[in-house]
Amino acid sequence: MSLRSILAGCGGYLPERVVTNDELSKTIDTSDEWIRERTGIRQRHFAGKHETAAFMGTAAARAALADAGATAADVDAIILATSTPDQAFPATALRVQAELGVTRGFGFDLSAACAGFIYALSVADGMIRAGQVRGALVIGSEVYSRILNWQDRGTCVLFGDGAGAVFLRASDCRDDDRRGVLSTHIHAQGTLGDILYVDGAVGQPDKPGHLVMNGREVFRHAVTRLAEAVEEALAANGMTHADVDWLVPHQANSRIINAMGRKLGLPPERVVVTVDRHANTSAASVPLALAEARADGRIGAGDLVLLEALGGGLTWGSALVRL
Ligand code: ACO
Repeated sequence: MSLRSILAGCGGYLPERVVTNDELSKTIDTSDEWIRERTGIRQRHFAGKHETAAFMGTAAARAALADAGATAADVDAIILATSTPDQAFPATALRVQAELGVTRGFGFDLSAACAGFIYALSVADGMIRAGQVRGALVIGSEVYSRILNWQDRGTCVLFGDGAGAVFLRASDCRDDDRRGVLSTHIHAQGTLGDILYVDGAVGQPDKPGHLVMNGREVFRHAVTRLAEAVEEALAANGMTHADVDWLVPHQANSRIINAMGRKLGLPPERVVVTVDRHANTSAASVPLALAEARADGRIGAGDLVLLEALGGGLTWGSALVRL
């Protein structure tokens, strides 16, 4: 017997305001056709003033707890991945903790850009396997609309706001019972930090920070690194492409998503896609996509789900989960 993290529930939150490509093209020199052809994005949600990372993360966490049939009393740890926290401190995770009425355990934020949710899942899974934690909320919550450079049409059309969460519950599993988080694989290469970054932060005088990206370089690394991470996850579990029921990829760009689906030999209907409606919500994109496919009944109990993401840092990773 060994301790395993069971993915007990998923939840998501999207801001009320929907902004279409046509609406963006009224103020930015772009077009619906350009955005759709290059990225697959049709619209995104943008947060209102009150819809901060903590607000949206709390809503997603509540939905994940409800889906799991769990309450605040079951939460030992909250790990929240974000690049757009409400404040430098306290951690956004602790604002969520307070809102949920969780009065014990611990929480912290994790910064790994678009790979943040995979990183947070990896940390939470490690703590559960070590017996440190029995119930963990893993959240990705982002308000990229606050860090976009509206003068840079090459980046400001790509992102949206939102939050996704999962609730992990420790379970004593037989070693041959292959349920829950089977493995996680996280990587980083700091020498590639300048191909995708935010050029400021609260620690820098007069520099709130805007997102800067070399899209071609990111694209090139994304396809190679994500393919490696996917193979690594399958090899670690003695599995092949044929074992995967669902791919839930980071939602940056439909061309990257389609390339990954083809590499795995998965038909398009086995790949969860939200980028058309959500755009790139960074650390929130994978748990939001997972929550949507669970809620509409596509992903069900017993399905083997492959998660992958890549983001600024460069950071990337994958996870294999059996629901
Ligand atoms: N509307 C209209 N035209 C535009 C826009 C726009 N929004 N943005 C750029 N252009 C123009 C450029 O000015 C350029 O015009 P020019 O040829 O006259 O100079 C032309 O379109 C091509 O620009 P590129 O930047 O070279 O466009 P590219 O073909 O590389 O596509 C894209 C850009 C979609 C970002 C692509 O590089 C890509 O898919 N990159 C992957 C990275 C990604 O998806 N990043 C998302 C965040 S990172 C992450 O989550 C992993």
